[in-house]
Amino acid sequence: MSILEVKNITKKFDNTMILKGIDFSMEEGEVISIIGSSGSGKTTLLRCLNFLETPDTGMIKVNGEVLFDGANIESNKRIQEEEIRKKRLHFGMVFQQFHLFPQYTALENVCLAPNLLKNKSSDEIKQEGMMLLDRMGLSDRMNNYPHQLSGGQQQRVAIARALAMNPDILCFDEPTSALDPELTGEVLKVIRSLADNNTTMIIVTHEMGFARDVSDKVLFMDQGIILEQGDAKEVIDNPQKERTKQFLSVMNKY
Ligand SMILES: Nc1ncnc2c1ncn2[C@@H]1O[C@H](COP(=O)(O)OP(=O)(O)O)[C@@H](O)[C@H]1O
Ligand SMILES: [Mg+2]
Repeated sequence: MSILEVKNITKKFDNTMILKGIDFSMEEGEVISIIGSSGSGKTTLLRCLNFLETPDTGMIKVNGEVLFDGANIESNKRIQEEEIRKKRLHFGMVFQQFHLFPQYTALENVCLAPNLLKNKSSDEIKQEGMMLLDRMGLSDRMNNYPHQLSGGQQQRVAIARALAMNPDILCFDEPTSALDPELTGEVLKVIRSLADNNTTMIIVTHEMGFARDVSDKVLFMDQGIILEQGDAKEVIDNPQKERTKQFLSVMNKY
């Protein structure tokens, strides 16, 4: 069974179709990169998966469980806040702008949401938080506040925070776009190590070399559709569609 099945997701904003029918699926342990021009709908798609937006049509299934069914839109409207929170737990989200809580230390940022869930002792949560920050190479930074950390360190705290909720699928929206090249490298390195440990991930990225090396599959989005998808190396080294070729040739100039 696929860990994620996405069928015919559409989304309009102000009568403009932004997602025009998105279909893909992924297996546990797989890494998918989503590439495509600015405005093609990549962020909107991730937001729909995370229930930060409600799709207009389609279906989202995780581990066979239907999380969203557009054919049953009336019942979706009645989904309670509590239920949405539960659905969100399937997905971890790492944003371009780290979105850490400035008033909390790195470790507190990581432990905050698990503490709210209350299904583990606060000691256990703290131990796990420390272990995750250690995995992110931040063992000496746990008690620092976000403003005391570099962008790359902040993003690694954000990754630890997402992992602390033990999501089925970890999603990244251009995780290195706000970072200079040196800090980009350290963040890509930890994402690569997560991939090596079979973490299921969807990564929106402009780093074509990284997408090629780390992902199993690449989806190329163009104007609200997946124009081309397939094996990462195939799509990036040997794109079939004119539009994909054009996009990649521009990206490779940078
Ligand atoms: N909340 C919103 N309201 C209206 N339009 C939006 C909203 N969010 C995104 N859009 C529009 O949807 C299109 C796709 O945006 P986005 O998903 O952010 O693309 P990408 O992440 O690929 O750059 C853009 O034209 C953007 O202006
Ligand atoms: Mg975006």
